[in-house]
Amino acid sequence: MSVSPNRNPQTPAEEGSTSKLPRHVAFIMDGNGRWATARGLPRTEGHRQGLEALRRAIRHAGKVGIEVITIYSFSSENWSRPETEVSFLMGLLRRFVQRDLSELHDANVRIRIIGGRSDLEPGILALLEEAEDLTKNNTGLNLVVAFNYGARAELVRAAQKLSQKVLSGEIRSEDISEAAITDALDTSGLPDPDLIVRTSGEMRLSNFLLWQAAYSEFYFCDQHWPDFDEAAFDEALSCFGSRQRRYGGVDAKAL
Ligand code: IPE
Ligand code: IPE
Ligand code: MG
Repeated sequence: MSVSPNRNPQTPAEEGSTSKLPRHVAFIMDGNGRWATARGLPRTEGHRQGLEALRRAIRHAGKVGIEVITIYSFSSENWSRPETEVSFLMGLLRRFVQRDLSELHDANVRIRIIGGRSDLEPGILALLEEAEDLTKNNTGLNLVVAFNYGARAELVRAAQKLSQKVLSGEIRSEDISEAAITDALDTSGLPDPDLIVRTSGEMRLSNFLLWQAAYSEFYFCDQHWPDFDEAAFDEALSCFGSRQRRYGGVDAKAL
């Protein structure tokens, strides 16, 4: 990964920068269903329009110079939705990768997938791995796709990885540090999200990046995801710019 991790709270993302642009913005793209229902349309139409909003957000993130965006595209709990909606979403993901991959690659975007892989349908898994593989040497925007992602499941996988290492004698239990856990997560090597944006009025994490969000700033807006445009993105960035991050310390100006 070309992005160096920003684990040290003493070196916040905006240090040394006057614009205070977040290095890493994570999106909980919520409200596709409500957007459609409000227009008398099937929920699937909301997901289709949500994909257009995603394309806009990716372009805009690249344009303003954000290093990493993470998008919550399908949670490990979303399998509980009606079968017709789940299969529509799987089809949409396939079409997104098939249609957009070469354009994203040409735009120097590096794609990374986080989430459980072991129980994925082989066709989908192959497509996701192809996207990661094709773009692995790209040096532009990092696009992290959280698919079949749940933070608790990710922490369980990390605990299993670390306990295997203890059992094989590779590490001792005392070696399990915050850094070791961070490295065992799917997001290993990525900076923590500076800003987490959730659309559609809900104010919860819904099992997203629980470990990584320890010092993230949160931004909630009422727009449904399909309506999230460049101006809404800029508003979130400008709100982030006005936040004071203290990481448990005291604002230097207050001393
Ligand atoms: C977000 O929109 C997309 C996914 C979770 C895949 P929703 O489908 O959750 O839309 P609402 O929240 O029901 O309106
Ligand atoms: C979170 O949204 C998951 C994604 C955006 C993919 P949900 O719509 O699934 O979350 P809840 O059910 O409202 O908490
Ligand atoms: Mg929702």
